[in-house]
Amino acid sequence: MTLEPGWHREGKATFCIEDAFYRPQSQVGRDLAVLAAAIYRSQRGELRVLDAMTGCGVRPLRYQLEAGADWVWANEGNPELRELLTKNLNAGMRPRSYRITHQDANQVFFTCHQQRDLYDLVDIDCFGGGAPYLSTGLWATRIGGLLYLTSTDTRTTGGHNPERSVQLYGAYARSHPAVHEQGLRLLIGSVLQQAATRGMRVRPVFSLFNGHVHRVMVRVSMGDPWEQEHYGFLGYCHHCGHYQTVAWHHLGHATCPVHNAAGGRDPIVLSGPMWLGPLHDTATLAQMADLATEWGWAKRVKLLQIMQVEANLPPYYYPLGEIGRHGQMDIPRRDRLIVALRDRGFRASLTHLDAQAIKTDASMAECVAAAKTCS
Ligand SMILES: C[S@@+](CC[C@H](N)C(=O)[O-])C[C@H]1O[C@@H](n2cnc3c(N)ncnc32)[C@H](O)[C@@H]1O
Ligand SMILES: [Zn+2]
Repeated sequence: MTLEPGWHREGKATFCIEDAFYRPQSQVGRDLAVLAAAIYRSQRGELRVLDAMTGCGVRPLRYQLEAGADWVWANEGNPELRELLTKNLNAGMRPRSYRITHQDANQVFFTCHQQRDLYDLVDIDCFGGGAPYLSTGLWATRIGGLLYLTSTDTRTTGGHNPERSVQLYGAYARSHPAVHEQGLRLLIGSVLQQAATRGMRVRPVFSLFNGHVHRVMVRVSMGDPWEQEHYGFLGYCHHCGHYQTVAWHHLGHATCPVHNAAGGRDPIVLSGPMWLGPLHDTATLAQMADLATEWGWAKRVKLLQIMQVEANLPPYYYPLGEIGRHGQMDIPRRDRLIVALRDRGFRASLTHLDAQAIKTDASMAECVAAAKTCS
């Protein structure tokens, strides 16, 4: 179907953009959220969404038209987008199934809490590190509901401003080759700790890095135990490329075992605290992949399959270039290296975080050894 001039389409939504901020590249984050929301709706029988920073309103449209949202609160801080938003939602959504406001997102969250008007899905598509909304978004999310967070501050999560990462996430972020994953884990770790101050827990449903932006959808719960092994530090040795996770009570003893064995004591760089547990919930990913198959979303099916295999691997990845550099050899072929590692009894997979990297429970030294056999 052709569109009138000025109208755009994404999924089942049609909308105008005009002066609103809308990035077509962010569609993958919206697609995954719509899938997760649709699964949630089918399980709970109801879906009430709070889209706290809605821009042109593409998300309210998609949450209703594709995920079956019963009610959507579309909030946008910029009141100048009122006319556009009204036009878009009027044209695409059921009457009396949404409201539009122009308030600061935090004001909305506190109003929700005060009025006990809690949401199944709270979507916060902010600019910057997301820190001002991590704890406050929880005030508007019902127990069992989903909170969808964003961070665009890859400089900070990438370890280029550790003092700032302390201020944003209460964690020291260092630079190393697996920082795309670190960005997700800092975000999850921070909201986990904030939730814990109120006796709540969060667990990732899915975590996504699309090359520019980090997004995590977490499920909020109450009464689950604190899993101390899932909240700690990541150690990296810049000399030999060895990664390790470090628990709080071992912080004083963290050194590189490769160098220790060789009689030296190389210091390692430590990042954290951060989430060290599974990056995604594989059961939900499987349901999302089934739905994406049903909807004919082949690209998303492929992405979800990669996310399923990477979900429970250690909290870092090895870029192929780093393996080549440490082995002083050509960059290994990814598929061959994965087979070689599996042949040696390790788990190994692609990762959605970097198309030129692998995730594995093998060490860098073991990756180099495997790469040598298949070069
Ligand atoms: C990244 S854009 C949203 C894009 C939209 N969610 C989409 O998927 O196309 C962020 C939006 O949040 C609005 N915004 C920024 N800070 C806000 C705040 N504190 N409260 C409410 N809205 C805010 C901006 O005006 C902008 O339209
Ligand atoms: Zn080392």
